[in-house]
Amino acid sequence: MNLSVKLPGLNLKNPIMPASGCFGFGKEYSEYYDLSLLGGVMMKAATQFERLGNPTPRVAETSAGMLNAIGLQNPGVQQIIDHEVPRLAKYDTSIIANIAGSSIEEYEFVAASFNQTTDVDALELNISCPNVKEGGIQFGTDPFMAKKVTEVVKKASNKPVYVKLSPNVHNIVEMAKAVEEAGADGLSMINTLTGMKIHLPSRKPLIANKTGGLSGPAIKPVAIRMIYEVRQQVSIPIIGMGGITSAEDVLEYLIAGADAVAVGTANFQNPFVCVDIINELPEVLEQYGFNSIEDVIEKRGITV
Ligand SMILES: Cc1cc2nc3c(=O)[nH]c(=O)nc-3n(C[C@H](O)[C@H](O)[C@H](O)COP(=O)(O)O)c2cc1C
Repeated sequence: MNLSVKLPGLNLKNPIMPASGCFGFGKEYSEYYDLSLLGGVMMKAATQFERLGNPTPRVAETSAGMLNAIGLQNPGVQQIIDHEVPRLAKYDTSIIANIAGSSIEEYEFVAASFNQTTDVDALELNISCPNVKEGGIQFGTDPFMAKKVTEVVKKASNKPVYVKLSPNVHNIVEMAKAVEEAGADGLSMINTLTGMKIHLPSRKPLIANKTGGLSGPAIKPVAIRMIYEVRQQVSIPIIGMGGITSAEDVLEYLIAGADAVAVGTANFQNPFVCVDIINELPEVLEQYGFNSIEDVIEKRGITV
C-alpha cells in the first residue's frame, strides 16, 4: 500500500515521524532499528548556543501522561549541523530541524545557520516551548509576535518552515491564521499543555521548574479538536502530534485534518513504536476503507 505523502520540502515515504525532543538526534534509536524506515525525523530543538536545560527533576509521570520541563537542552546549532545532521543524513529519511530562541534575533540566526546544509529538508519553528524563562512563550501565545517571528525566519531561511503551535492559547485558529499569513509553509501541532504535579511529602512541585509540559494520550483529544478547528480555516498542511500510540490514532489525526503525524512520548515507553505503527498502518487503513494516505486526505472532506 502506498503510504507516501508529499508536503512542502518533504517527500515522505510514510507519514510517521518521531516528534522533536522525544528522539534526540536519533543516535540511541539507531541502535534499535534502521532509521530509513521512518517518514522523517524531527530533531531536538536547536538554539544559537549550547543549552544545558533546566535543573532536575525535569520529568515526571502523572496519572494521565508525562510532564517535562527539559528547557531546550541542546549542543547549539553549529554542533548540530557539524555532527548530528551528517550522521542522520546517512539514512534515507527526511530531516526536519526544530529551531528555538529567546529573541527574534536568535530565531533568525538559527534559521539562517541551517542554510549551510542541504541535508536538512525543512524547519520546524518552535514558538511554543512553555519551559524557558526568557521569551519563548510570548511568541507562541501572541498572534502578532507569532507572525513577526515567522516572517523573520521565512526571510532568513531557504527551507520550508512549519510553525509549531502551542495549545496554551484561547484561540488556536487565530494563531494558525497569523502564521499562515506570515508565509508559513505548514503547521505542526500541538506542543505540550502546561501542567503541574505536587510531591506530597515535601508539599512542593515535583518538577524543579514548578510547571512542565503535559504530553501523551491525555492530550490527544485536545490536539484532535484543535487540528479539526484549524483545518476548517487554514489551507497549509498540518503535521499532527499529541498522544499518538497506534495506527488507529494516526488515522484519527488524518481524518481530523492532519497530513502527516509525529509520535512523541510513546517512544519512551516503546522504542519501536514508530516502526510498529508504520507496519500496522496498511491493515488499519484497509479496515476502514482507505487504499492510501492520499486517499484518507482526499476523502476527509466528506467525512469531517
Ligand atoms: C521530553 C520532551 C521533550 C520535548 N522537546 C521538544 C523540543 O525540543 N522542541 C519541540 O518543539 N517540542 C518538544 N517536545 C514536544 C513534542 O515534540 C510533542 O509536541 C509533544 O510531546 C506532544 O506529542 P506526544 O504527546 O506524542 O509526546 C518535547 C516533548 C517531550 C515529552
